[in-house]
Amino acid sequence: MKENLDIEADGYSYIIALTGASGAIYGFSLLKTLINRSFFVHLIISKPGFKVIKDELGMFTGISDIYTNGGEAGTGGNREDYSLSSFNLDIKNEIINRFELQEGCCRFAFLDENFLEARIASGSAKNVKGMIVIPCSMGSLSRIANGISGNLIERAADVILKERKKLIICPRETPLNDIHLKNMLSLYSSGAVILPPVPAFYNKPQTVSDIIDFITGKILDALDIENDIYVRWKGYDSK
Ligand SMILES: Cc1cc2nc3c(=O)[nH]c(=O)nc-3n(C[C@H](O)[C@H](O)[C@H](O)COP(=O)(O)O)c2cc1C
Repeated sequence: MKENLDIEADGYSYIIALTGASGAIYGFSLLKTLINRSFFVHLIISKPGFKVIKDELGMFTGISDIYTNGGEAGTGGNREDYSLSSFNLDIKNEIINRFELQEGCCRFAFLDENFLEARIASGSAKNVKGMIVIPCSMGSLSRIANGISGNLIERAADVILKERKKLIICPRETPLNDIHLKNMLSLYSSGAVILPPVPAFYNKPQTVSDIIDFITGKILDALDIENDIYVRWKGYDSK
C-alpha cells in the first residue's frame, strides 16, 4: 500500500463503504465529491454490494459470481499489497473510468471486505476523519450495531465509534421493522449519525442528479465540510 500511503499523508481521509442495499450511486457520488475536495478515500464494497452495483449500474460485469458468492478476491498475492493487486486495481480503474475521476484518480484505494489486516481496521490509523456507510443494508446495520466486526466494513465502523470519530450510516430499506429501528437507535446512542438517503422536495429537484446531490450535500454538512451542492431552504422570511 506504499503508493496510497504517500498520497494520504498529505491530508485527511475518509472511509466509504458501499453495502448490498439499493442506491449504490449515492456512494459513488460521495466518493467523487470527497476526492475532488482532495480527501483520500478508503473504499470498501461488500460482496452483496457488488451484486447490487452490477444490477443497478451495469458495472463490474467482469467480476466472477464466484467472488460475490463468497470466493476469494482475484490475485490478492502479498496481503500487505492487497490494495495494489490486479483485481483491486481493475475495480479502481473501472470506477475511475465510469465516474471520470481525472483529478482525484489516485486519491482512493479499493479495499477488499475480507482485508481485516488493513490499517483502517485499527484505531492507530492516522488521518482518518470518519466513515460513511452508503447505502447501508439492514444486514450491515445490524452487524455494526452489534459489534460483530466480521469484515472490514464492520470492523472499521467499530473502530470509528470507539475512537469517537464520525460514523454516518445511510440506511436504505422501506418499510422498517422494529429490529431495523432498534438497531438504528442503538447506533445513534453510540454516537453515529443516522442519515437515511431520503429526498426532499422543497428544493424542487428536476433530475435524479438533484436528488443525489441533496443527499451528498447533507452528508458533507454532517461532516462539517462547507458546500453548496444542494439548494438550501431559504425560509419564507427571505421573500
Ligand atoms: C438488487 C438488490 C437490492 C437490495 N436492496 C436492499 C436494500 O435496499 N436494503 C437492504 O437492507 N437489503 C437489500 N438487499 C439485500 C442485501 O443485499 C442482503 O441482505 C445482503 O446480505 C446484505 O449484505 P451486506 O450488508 O454485507 O452488504 C438487496 C439485494 C439485492 C440483490
